[in-house]
Amino acid sequence: MRRIAKEFRAEMRAGLAGKKSSLKMLPAYIGAPTGDERGRCVALDLGGTNFRIALVDLKGGGRLGSKKTRAYAIPKKHVTGSGTSFFDYIARCLKCFMEEEGISQEDIRLGFTFSFPLQQTGIASGVLVKWTKAFRVSGVEGRDVVKMLQGALARQRMGVIKVSAIINDTIGAFAALRYRDARCDVGVIIGTGTNGCYFAQDAHGGRLINIEWGNYDKLPTTIYDKAVDRASNNRGEQTLEKMVSGMYLGQIVEMMVNDLVNNSLLFITPNNKRSYVRRFTSELISYIEEDTTKQLRNVGRVLDDLGVSNHSAKDRVILKYVCRTVSRRSARILVSVLSGVITTIDENLSRDHAVAIDGSLYEKHPAFSDNIRKGLKELFGSKASRIKIILTKDGSSEGAAVVAAITPS
Ligand code: GLC
Repeated sequence: MRRIAKEFRAEMRAGLAGKKSSLKMLPAYIGAPTGDERGRCVALDLGGTNFRIALVDLKGGGRLGSKKTRAYAIPKKHVTGSGTSFFDYIARCLKCFMEEEGISQEDIRLGFTFSFPLQQTGIASGVLVKWTKAFRVSGVEGRDVVKMLQGALARQRMGVIKVSAIINDTIGAFAALRYRDARCDVGVIIGTGTNGCYFAQDAHGGRLINIEWGNYDKLPTTIYDKAVDRASNNRGEQTLEKMVSGMYLGQIVEMMVNDLVNNSLLFITPNNKRSYVRRFTSELISYIEEDTTKQLRNVGRVLDDLGVSNHSAKDRVILKYVCRTVSRRSARILVSVLSGVITTIDENLSRDHAVAIDGSLYEKHPAFSDNIRKGLKELFGSKASRIKIILTKDGSSEGAAVVAAITPS
């Protein structure tokens, strides 16, 4: 972990200096919220499994009033279809939401969380560098996504609405927590994908950087990581993400399990018929690791559902062990890069740092937060208590509202 942290810091420096680096280090063009942001804002939140829209009422003084959220499934045809139909779908969802909530076009302040690498030139403009995760919408890479959304809004007769700000989800988590806690200087997402951002105070006030750490490529990998990469739609990219985030952990377990099966070390039947597992997900990892029953009932249930009929008590123990190994490695890689980030801001941990963390894996996995805590303790000893890891649920959308409220409309 120490070595990863050190090498990661060097990679961050290279990225900032414009040298060759797997870290994009993208500036966010906003300052840190003060907590005094006020007003009703609408947030669009795009980048995970669902597309979400939220109406957030900011009261100032770090307080939130009422909040309404709706999730919209993104039909598969849009995830791999054309940019125009994709943004038209987003605009139509917004139209429905506004009608349902009775929001008029004239008084809407709109923040847009777009959880992909964006090269920004200002607070309300950003060119998509590259799709990540499962997204493959054509004709969007290399283009300004705010312009594309504005185009769709115009087509849906909502041209009056102007996007006030576009941000990454890590920036959203950061802004949501910073709104109520001035110690917050790092935002982390660990869900479908993984990424981090940080705020570094400097002579000009400070700068907020979206690291895009999912693409970090200096980690030692296993044959299973290489197999996951080969099976992906973005080979050679997002190496760290493929070892850490929810979209891939299930696949790693699957590759390991099937390898054990191939070597006749798991699910051995009297007639030597091999049972392979398919479509193993990170939700199953959480479910299996939650299982504290002596008979490992959850594990048995999962195997039954996966069609493995002949599992022994030993098989169940092994499967749980594989899950634990994979999720623990994920947490420890996360700790390593996170500590690289924090020591970049504050080398000797001379003050408190609050880390806003959001994402389904962190929220739902039974041991993830514990593993992070333990890892930080190993690295920093008693000083680890200076690092507060704070679950910032819905941070990515709340943060977009906060940022929209900072921005003069
Ligand atoms: C992917 C995206 C990144 C995002 C992360 C978490 O890594 O490239 O922008 O922050 O997923 O959603």
